[in-house]
Amino acid sequence: MEKIIDESVQGTPLSLQTSEENNRKLYIESYGCQMNFSDSEIVASILGKAGFNTTDKLEEADLVLVNTCSIREKAELTIRKRLEKFNTIKRHRPEMKVGVLGCMAERLKSKLLDEEKIVDMVVGPDAYKDLPNLVQEIDEGRNAVNVILSKEETYGDIAPVRLNTNGVTAFVSITRGCDNMCTFCVVPFTRGRERSREPQSIIDEVNDLWEKGFREITLLGQNVDSYLWYGGGLKKDFEKATEMQKATAVNFAKLLEMTAQAQPKMRIRFSTSNPQDMTIDAIHVMAKYENICNYIHLPVQSGSNRILKAMNRLHTREEYFKLIDTILEIIPDCAISQDMITGFPTETEEDHQDTLSLMEYVKYDYGFMFAYSERPGTMAARKLEDDVPEATKKRRLSEIIALQRQHCQLRTEQHLGKIQEVLIEGTSKKSQDHWMGRNSQNTVAVFPKEHYKVGDFVNVQMNSCTSATLIGEAVGYSENNQ
Ligand code: SAH
Ligand code: F3S
Repeated sequence: MEKIIDESVQGTPLSLQTSEENNRKLYIESYGCQMNFSDSEIVASILGKAGFNTTDKLEEADLVLVNTCSIREKAELTIRKRLEKFNTIKRHRPEMKVGVLGCMAERLKSKLLDEEKIVDMVVGPDAYKDLPNLVQEIDEGRNAVNVILSKEETYGDIAPVRLNTNGVTAFVSITRGCDNMCTFCVVPFTRGRERSREPQSIIDEVNDLWEKGFREITLLGQNVDSYLWYGGGLKKDFEKATEMQKATAVNFAKLLEMTAQAQPKMRIRFSTSNPQDMTIDAIHVMAKYENICNYIHLPVQSGSNRILKAMNRLHTREEYFKLIDTILEIIPDCAISQDMITGFPTETEEDHQDTLSLMEYVKYDYGFMFAYSERPGTMAARKLEDDVPEATKKRRLSEIIALQRQHCQLRTEQHLGKIQEVLIEGTSKKSQDHWMGRNSQNTVAVFPKEHYKVGDFVNVQMNSCTSATLIGEAVGYSENNQ
């Protein structure tokens, strides 16, 4: 993952899961957030039981699935271009079927079948268990659509097939949907209301990953701090739970603690945190357990109180600063990253300056920055005119990216001279002779391979850096190493 990204959206083909009993080939491409990549592993698992092995060769696929993203218009346009490419292949191989999964499927529903003639099947994020039936429908020559959103579905009972894996790091999803209704965001519409996954199934998955050699997991959700298990059902219905259910409910701090205790040597990360839902308890749990990484992705979107309000972000700039101060008091070396949007409707130059000054205060370790893109159906699209000129959005975007670059450099330099634990994930992209891994703060480090191997926890002396990468030298195994 790059430290500074703007509008780039990349699809990644997932490979390779094989079973001798299966005789059909599935090619899945995923776009957008980590949740989509994690969902594709669930889809591969469901279809693995319905006769499909995955392939990374598009030309030999019987079924092509695109797990789509609707977060910005550009993401959707990229995917539509990709569908055109599939169309050219289908001309030579008319038996190849194409299905659209994920947020675009949910947003556009059966309209997609009319707009994109190549598409045979449209399946929303809560309907993946229906895939075997839907595939049968298309086998019989009919188009198939299921975009029903669910109150309960968390796929807690599906063991994801780890695709395209480095064998060391994995995602474990803990919540689905989002109730926050930020006015710019399409996610509550495409992924439905918030619900949490049963904690024991999460712990079982983490234990299983450890057994298989994985050494780092990321607990995933649109808003992980809002996690709440009380026996199943929507978060918003918690009020209606019985006294017993309320008394035994598991919140995010508790889940984090349970996970850290279940596998004391497994590195634990989580994403994404919403400032208004983050609790002091969760921060204390992070501080208490060595194996929970000191890194929080804490999107703020804007530094202006007026814009935060218009975005329906339920906190002020001052409350955000207070949260940052508290985090750093409890975990002084905690890395923090942001998501930011420039050019939200009515954003003035003064609002933009507020964003820059907020960034100066926090000096984020990393950032993910975007120009506002109006999404049909959202409150902002319905109530506010997209009135900031494209050129202004882009100029403000480049200003915040430039500032973030400086802060990245500064934060990366702060690790210099230290010896830090790095988990080796694979060979460095730039050099065959170097390993690549990350420190607790999620900063990438590279160092000569020597006798170490993938999955080792190694202490690395940090000698120099670029703006986003530490360059060092191993000084031995860390005490965590197995
Ligand atoms: N809570 C989610 C947020 C998902 S969207 C999570 O798990 O990360 C990721 C980021 O995309 C948001 O934080 C926001 O910065 C950006 N984004 C969302 N809607 C957008 C829009 N309409 N235009 C531009 N950027 C948007
Ligand atoms: Fe979107 Fe806000 Fe939820 S950004 S995913 S509505 S926290």
